[in-house]
Amino acid sequence: MDKIVVLDFGSQYSHLICRRIRDSSVYAELVSYKISSDELEKLEPNGIIFSGGPASIYNDSAPKPDKAIFELGIPILGICYGHQLIVDNFGGKVKRANQEYGSSSLIIDKSTDLLSGLGDYMRAWMSHGDEAEKIPEGFQVIGHTNASATAAIADTQRKIYGIQFHPEVVHTERGTEILKNFAVDICHAKQEWTMQNFIEKTVNEISQIEGNVLCAVSGGIDSTVTSLLIQKAIGDRLKCIFVDNGLLRYNEEKEIQNMFENSFSLNLTTVAAKERFLSKLKGVKDPEEKRKIIGEEFIRVFTEFAEKNGPFTWLAQGTLYPDVIESGVSKGPAAVIKTHHNVGGLPDWLNLKVLEPLRFLYKDEVRKIAKILGLPEKLVTRHPFPGPGLAVRIIGEVTDKKLQICKLSSRIVEDELTAAGWYEKVWQAYATVGDDRAVGVVGDERKYGNVVMIRVVNSVDAMTADWTRLPTELLEKMSNRITNEIEDVTWVSYVISSKPPATIEPQ
Ligand code: XMP
Repeated sequence: MDKIVVLDFGSQYSHLICRRIRDSSVYAELVSYKISSDELEKLEPNGIIFSGGPASIYNDSAPKPDKAIFELGIPILGICYGHQLIVDNFGGKVKRANQEYGSSSLIIDKSTDLLSGLGDYMRAWMSHGDEAEKIPEGFQVIGHTNASATAAIADTQRKIYGIQFHPEVVHTERGTEILKNFAVDICHAKQEWTMQNFIEKTVNEISQIEGNVLCAVSGGIDSTVTSLLIQKAIGDRLKCIFVDNGLLRYNEEKEIQNMFENSFSLNLTTVAAKERFLSKLKGVKDPEEKRKIIGEEFIRVFTEFAEKNGPFTWLAQGTLYPDVIESGVSKGPAAVIKTHHNVGGLPDWLNLKVLEPLRFLYKDEVRKIAKILGLPEKLVTRHPFPGPGLAVRIIGEVTDKKLQICKLSSRIVEDELTAAGWYEKVWQAYATVGDDRAVGVVGDERKYGNVVMIRVVNSVDAMTADWTRLPTELLEKMSNRITNEIEDVTWVSYVISSKPPATIEPQ
């Protein structure tokens, strides 16, 4: 498949470059900046993008690409730090400049191929401390801002381009068009990245594998789509396992079993494992430790099942691209935020190969596939839920009481959102509980109860998120129901932190 390969120099938003290119139906993939020229050539990219990054190119430890990459004859676009790498490599000069952060006006000096169709002027989002003082021979300035005389440069002969601003962020007006101009017009990448093509290609690839596959399903859209794609490819050689770990949403285990029985003809076994998960978590407060314990326990359950029902060669999981990036296994320099259990926690002794057909997809792409496969609407629109379940939603030790409060209050939040027509407008919504307590008064009696926090966020891909400005009447209704219907709760608060600096889940 035609593709653009993005070299990651450490910007938290490098992945967004891929996301925006895929919006133009061109496949894009993120790799470490450390990739050798030979390895990169093997990927057969139509174009290469150097991402931004926090370093200054003159630092000793500044990440630099393999120099031979510049000579491959493949079009290159450098963004921010990537722009400065290009200037430096071809003999220009980069200097420390006045920092320029936020929105700037980009004056378009030459509507070259890269900036064609964008008119004379656009808003561009800047975030840099260094800038190109002298551009290399063969390049021309195609755009500038007040603070940056060389904000966009081009060598149209060699097809090498540099832009100081970030086309991947929403604050850059028409940034997607610039990326499309690069991918489609300059690199001639075919716009063949459609979910229908993805299904055909993936099913075809999976049908080549040998041996049986064990697929862990959670009832969520990712693992359900994973299992259905594998079933299409290898039929009866797939067995699915659903582990009821006691950490699911209210009544979810029953709903999941009903859905699998009524909607799909998957070969599914349910393992009741609530007691073993909760006993392993007893006394554990640290979030990363909880994740590790749950990840390991899942693997133990899978392995026991595999020994009794095997042989299996593969373990399939519904891992998505953001999970891979945030777990720090994309081989890029981005920091580990959380070890998502289905990415970071597979032990060496696991005698199964891992099959992750959705590993390169974003959530909205999986939703498109789910629609094509005819999955029930309720499942397609169901909010994402973390693999380690309520254990990472509940702050501190997981106890029966906190589990009960979390399940009941989250159900009230979901019900009220649905009734008010908000459920499908938001990315995720739940209520959580920790160990804080507050005094309340019921009738004439003092009551010392738990504090519940409602979290509702908007997001497009879970990498960034903003808290949802819900109507106060709706919040009031949720709060009243939670304190009236759940015996142990005295206070309800609403979380107004965005990601970053917070994350969507509390742990
Ligand atoms: P955070 O809390 O990191 O969450 O902002 C981003 C998205 O990922 C979900 N999440 C997980 N999903 N395994 C998963 O499959 C995990 O370990 C995990 N942790 C968080 C979270 O619900 C949100 O949608």
